[in-house]
Amino acid sequence: MKAIVQDTYGTADVLELREIERPEVGDDEVLVRVHAAGVDPGVWHLMTGLPYLIRIAGYGFRAPKFPVRGNDLAGRVEAIGKDVTQFQVGDEVYGTSDGTFAEYVSAKASKVALKPANLSFEQAAAVPTSALTALQGLRDHGEAQPGQRVLIIGASGGIGTFAVQLGKAFGAEVTGVCSTSKVDMVRSLGADRVIDYVRNDFTHMTQRYDLILDMAGNRPLSMLRRALTPEGTLVIIGGEEGGPWLGGTDRQIRALLLSPFVRQRLRTFVAKESGEDLLVLKELIESGKVTPVIDRTYELSEAADAIRYLDEGHARGKLVLTV
Ligand SMILES: NC(=O)c1ccc[n+]([C@@H]2O[C@H](COP(=O)([O-])OP(=O)(O)OC[C@H]3O[C@@H](n4cnc5c(N)ncnc54)[C@H](OP(=O)(O)O)[C@@H]3O)[C@@H](O)[C@H]2O)c1
Repeated sequence: MKAIVQDTYGTADVLELREIERPEVGDDEVLVRVHAAGVDPGVWHLMTGLPYLIRIAGYGFRAPKFPVRGNDLAGRVEAIGKDVTQFQVGDEVYGTSDGTFAEYVSAKASKVALKPANLSFEQAAAVPTSALTALQGLRDHGEAQPGQRVLIIGASGGIGTFAVQLGKAFGAEVTGVCSTSKVDMVRSLGADRVIDYVRNDFTHMTQRYDLILDMAGNRPLSMLRRALTPEGTLVIIGGEEGGPWLGGTDRQIRALLLSPFVRQRLRTFVAKESGEDLLVLKELIESGKVTPVIDRTYELSEAADAIRYLDEGHARGKLVLTV
């Protein structure tokens, strides 16, 4: 089968389209014929091996332990492991697994779900990592409540476009922060207000928020806290600023260390790859409350171009590879 493979860490130039063995299906896995694969900043981290923290965390010290890139998938079940009861051959599914930039992937059955019926494979592949992160950030770590004022920093990106829609679905009053050319798009997703960060700095405005989700990662903790209500919650989700060792995680660690000593709740998390939450998203998508926003679609052979574009940091929603 064809797959996007890398032998060493590096820039997108290390990615090669190669013929490799089709994976075997494990007892608790489904073999999926991938039709589309989502592109996420996590792919960039595993491609570059940056920050170095991820190498120490077990992804491979000198080279990636698992050479096929990609984490999000949408496709059709081709075979099922002997312990899998919830899927049948032919089911259309979406979810996460290592190595989705390939014609076939063997995915844990617990990390996939039936695809939302109203989405194409391309649209469904845009959902898993970004929407799971937005959902868990708002619901589990932000504990979003109806009527709360919620600020989404990075509202025009992969996670942000889902977070705006999910925030509205939870009954919150949502303000999105993005750059000038994306203001209309974020408003069209349902945001009650949009702040163009090129023209206005929300940290200098009088409005305070009950919950802030930060995907952009380029504002100091003190500034974010200033925009929170006295007992508000800050959930730091990401950001690509910071050195090669820790990336932006030093800010997240500082937030966790400070949180017990202040009234505001300062939180961070790594999203769980969860088939159950994919079913929650399936319902929200099928009811029309959430729709993926796709900026560009690429062929599998153009995976490197997709990652270069993502690395510029200004995608309008999601990027997807068709396989
Ligand atoms: N914690 C987790 O489990 C988890 C899971 C997935 C991803 N992440 C991390 O979360 C981060 C965001 O991921 P993503 O997929 O949403 O990335 P993305 O699609 O590249 O979006 C990033 C967004 O940040 C915005 N941005 C850049 N500078 C900004 C600024 N000064 N103020 C406000 N917004 C700004 C950009 O909007 P404009 O183009 O409008 O500037 C862009 O839309 C990444 O660091 C990623 O690694 C964390």
